[in-house]
Amino acid sequence: MADSIRKVVFPVAGLGTRFLPATKASPKEMLPVVDRPLIQYAVEEAVAAGADTLVFITGRTKRAIEDHFDKAYELEVELEAKGKQRMLDLVRNTVPDGVNCIYIRQGEALGLGHAVACARPVVGNEPFGVILADDLIDGGSDPVLLQMARQYQAHQCSILGVERVPKQETDKYGVVSSSEFGPRLSKLSGIVEKPDPEQAPSDLAVVGRYILTPAIFDLLEATRPDQRGEIQLTDAIAALLDQEQILAHEFEGHRYDCGSKLGYLKATLEYGLRHPELGTEFAAYLRQRSSD
Ligand code: G1P
Repeated sequence: MADSIRKVVFPVAGLGTRFLPATKASPKEMLPVVDRPLIQYAVEEAVAAGADTLVFITGRTKRAIEDHFDKAYELEVELEAKGKQRMLDLVRNTVPDGVNCIYIRQGEALGLGHAVACARPVVGNEPFGVILADDLIDGGSDPVLLQMARQYQAHQCSILGVERVPKQETDKYGVVSSSEFGPRLSKLSGIVEKPDPEQAPSDLAVVGRYILTPAIFDLLEATRPDQRGEIQLTDAIAALLDQEQILAHEFEGHRYDCGSKLGYLKATLEYGLRHPELGTEFAAYLRQRSSD
């Protein structure tokens, strides 16, 4: 099997209803945290893990994502004419040279599993990563997908990014049962999608990071939609478990659930505080505000 993760899939066709009306005409993945849209943090994480092919599974009202990673001729000409080199670099470097962006349109919103299945023609017979951009994870100097790519290289099997969550929140996540395998690593014995807290097999929840072997594609095709009409990636992973070993990696870092308004606000605050140009002033503002 291949040694590195060259292709990463970004399912970005979701409707983002929790942020309406902000997401009426523009994708939730374009919501900025300080000065970069969520999808750009996700792309930077994929590139840091060694990806050279980024596969976006898009839907209606998602054109802004394609434009964001494309050349912006008029803007570049204008910034160049005004000698604004720093801004020009920011605009030009949304994806590094040598990294390809491929866009696949998911005609119908049939769930995360269906979105991942749409990537099959591009991914082919290789292991690949999946990043859900609304789980913004700050891994510091060691981005989470890179942590997982190392585990993949060591164990040559699918790796799920997981985190312990409060027991009452298991119904928001895929939840695994597993046994210890190594430091921050456990071996899956089961996975269920959004179990009620009383039924949850553990408090170890799957966050929006996956490295999957290509065997998942046949299983996704065989996966039937759930009661909500969605093909769940979790169900295909449960089927993969009958064929292959799967490991869960408890990542090092801090996750912000930017699919919720509160998580998004927390991310904005934290990334604002450590922003090289704004951090000091912003911290002073917050201090002053709390003493008022
Ligand atoms: C999806 C997956 C779920 C996973 C979660 C992580 O759910 O179906 O298994 O735990 O992402 O964010 P969603 O948040 O799209 O409902």
